[in-house]
Amino acid sequence: MVAFPTKRVVLFASGSGSNVENIVRYFRDRPNVTIAAVLTNKRDAKVLERCDTLNISALYFNKTAFSQTDCVLEVLKGLDPDLIVLAGFLLKVPQRLIRNFPDKIINIHPALLPKYGGKGMYGSHVHRAVKQNCEKETGISIHFVNENYDEGAIIHQAKTALSPEDSVASIAQKVHQLEYEHFPKVIEQLLARQ
Ligand code: GAR
Repeated sequence: MVAFPTKRVVLFASGSGSNVENIVRYFRDRPNVTIAAVLTNKRDAKVLERCDTLNISALYFNKTAFSQTDCVLEVLKGLDPDLIVLAGFLLKVPQRLIRNFPDKIINIHPALLPKYGGKGMYGSHVHRAVKQNCEKETGISIHFVNENYDEGAIIHQAKTALSPEDSVASIAQKVHQLEYEHFPKVIEQLLARQ
């Protein structure tokens, strides 16, 4: 366990939330990190069920609240996070949030950026493109969030080898394994450095 004063993390997710669950479980044994809340833009996202099971506060917001008003910003200010973590979150983060939380918003991308990034490149779309291009490896990129999709400074990357036999599903599985292994540790290291 890395020693540092108590820190607060807010997670954003749009879908299944398996990374959210993995991060929550990782920090359960580490009392110096509190998962303050999970925020989602999908009211039927499986991540909400996971939060119920995990006993974690979860909030839903719509796109208007996120992109056109200060609603989500005010909620975030109230939550007072040391780090905001996009864990499978698919909306573009508006300037008002980036300005208010400089160097405090990070994202995980399921490929080796700068390859396979940008608008429309998420989840299985990424893995399908990787498969179509017969890539010999893929991986994950954890990076700071700036005003452009997937272009902020890279914090950490990890790779996995691919073979021609890999399917889109098996690529997704390999990438998820890397995410589960690396993402919580990178979050912990960033919090320790603050
Ligand atoms: C993850 O693989 C994450 O890297 C990806 O969505 C998946 C969410 O899985 N994020 C993006 O594609 C962002 N561009 P999960 O809901 O099971 O954690």
